Amino acid sequence: MTEEKLDEKILAIFKDLHQHPELSAQEFATTKKIRHWLSERSITLRETDLPTGVFAEIAGDPNGPVVGLRADIDALPIKEQTEVPYKSQNDGVMHACGHDFHTSALLWAAYWLKEKQAELSGTVRLIFQPAEEAEHGGLQVVRDGQLKGLDAVIGIHNKPDLPVGTIGIKAGPLMAACDKYRITFHGIGGHAAIPERTKDSIVAASSFIQTVQTIVSRNISPKHEAVVSVTSIHGGDVWNVLPGEVELLGTVRTFYDEDRDLIINRFEDIAKGLERAYGVQVRVEWGQGTPSVLNDEKLTRIVQTANQTEVKVVTPELSVAGDDFSCFQREVPGVFVFVGSDGPQDWHHPSFQVDPAGIRVAAGFYYRSAIAVLKDLNKE
Ligand code: NI
Repeated sequence: MTEEKLDEKILAIFKDLHQHPELSAQEFATTKKIRHWLSERSITLRETDLPTGVFAEIAGDPNGPVVGLRADIDALPIKEQTEVPYKSQNDGVMHACGHDFHTSALLWAAYWLKEKQAELSGTVRLIFQPAEEAEHGGLQVVRDGQLKGLDAVIGIHNKPDLPVGTIGIKAGPLMAACDKYRITFHGIGGHAAIPERTKDSIVAASSFIQTVQTIVSRNISPKHEAVVSVTSIHGGDVWNVLPGEVELLGTVRTFYDEDRDLIINRFEDIAKGLERAYGVQVRVEWGQGTPSVLNDEKLTRIVQTANQTEVKVVTPELSVAGDDFSCFQREVPGVFVFVGSDGPQDWHHPSFQVDPAGIRVAAGFYYRSAIAVLKDLNKE
């Protein structure tokens, strides 16, 4: 197939994916299509117990290292509000995070790598991950054994505020760990005019809200970024009764595992202190989300060197959003980059769009990075 024809084919694949988005863990048609597009090129599929997601391998030097290339494949429960001719046909579901862009780019890279199979200094494993947005797809892929034997893993995310042709590469943290919490204050309610007979959960909760503000300013290093937000307060219904219970909800964003642990510990300590100070009981519940995207120094250097003559490499800003590629990085060294997609809106917006021209850049990144990482690790 000529380069031009391949270009057209990948564009058609992108439009097909965009028109038929599927929610997390329900990517059945998408899975079937990806399997077909890989099999067409005689790319070997790997067995899996997962109902959705596709895993495949292009084996070069059998004694060489194994590098994973990851794209996520799921869409979001958002009603598309763009006017693109290939708009979603699945009402209320939309590729509003550009995972169709990632999937098309990885397929394209797979086609190129397949042509170079005999020259590869190792094996490339293709990971088309399901359920990134919900349902813990990253963890499911780890538990399914798809990372076994991997020496490195590489992933991308489109970035609407970077122009096409630009790639954001950065060692260390790139995207945040996103955790949520619920704090419940159990006091003793009573008449608002007889506070001495109550244990006031409203006063305890307000003290908690104030005190947790000091975690970022007093406990986290000024060189690290972190966010502690209280987003909901519920307690009491009327003006003359002190409620027996108050509930707070909120979120915490961190970039380093030690900061994440520190905040969790500080919440517990502050809760214990307030129990003693106000005579209430405080229950802290954490909804642990994905850890932060933390890029391996050495891999970052390799992919930067491999790509900087072909594309414009910039240092991206930290993103307070998360990506569960981070689960892979807790298993094997990994690097995750932002590929410019020049869109009018940020991720998860109903008018989100990517410039499909960026898919070629992303595919080139996967291709060059896989070859360079295999070569480098093969020397060891
Ligand atoms: Ni995404």
